Amino acid sequence: MKNITLIAAIGKNNELGKDNNLLWRIKEDLKFFKENTIGKTILMGSKTFYSLPGLLPNRKHVVLTKQDLKLDPSVVILHSVEEALQYIESLNEEVMIIGGGQIYKEFIDYSNKLLITEIDDEKEADTFFPLIKKQVWKKEILSEHEENNIKYKHILYTRKN
Ligand SMILES: NC(=O)c1ccc[n+]([C@@H]2O[C@H](COP(=O)([O-])OP(=O)(O)OC[C@H]3O[C@@H](n4cnc5c(N)ncnc54)[C@H](OP(=O)(O)O)[C@@H]3O)[C@@H](O)[C@H]2O)c1
Repeated sequence: MKNITLIAAIGKNNELGKDNNLLWRIKEDLKFFKENTIGKTILMGSKTFYSLPGLLPNRKHVVLTKQDLKLDPSVVILHSVEEALQYIESLNEEVMIIGGGQIYKEFIDYSNKLLITEIDDEKEADTFFPLIKKQVWKKEILSEHEENNIKYKHILYTRKN
């Protein structure tokens, strides 16, 4: 198992996004995302990359695409899951997978941690996080919060042996 963590914010139905946008903007949760990705390598699909406001400071960006994209020279571009797994292996450090739906689905079986913001709300969506199987993942509630009448929890899932 590689040193891979998936980090995501999901609703009650595992919803992640709609029209290439996030469904919620919870200020304190965006801070949690920052704290847990700063100084690290972040890997994402091209759609998530284009949904960002720009390059996120102090993080190494790795983007998966099947296309010949011309991105900022600091961005590492990879073209398959296999290539990404080899790259991650070569780094010898924790890599944070930041989305979106396609990428989470392709990497969940290779990851050993899921850092999930579970939001107690539901919204119409077109992108979903994969099912977190109880028999595979051990759940630990890290903290519980509320912002603008929306309750949410930070949960750490670690892979059972
Ligand atoms: N709630 C959250 O925590 C969270 C986090 C991240 C994203 N999101 C949301 O999720 C949505 C985006 O997710 P998405 O599923 O549509 O897209 P995505 O996973 O971000 O990106 C999909 C793209 O990644 C590339 N890709 C995927 N698998 C690949 C492979 N095996 N080899 C090479 N390239 C590969 C392809 O790019 P090309 O088409 O360029 O070939 C594909 O079109 C947005 O709504 C975003 O806001 C939510």
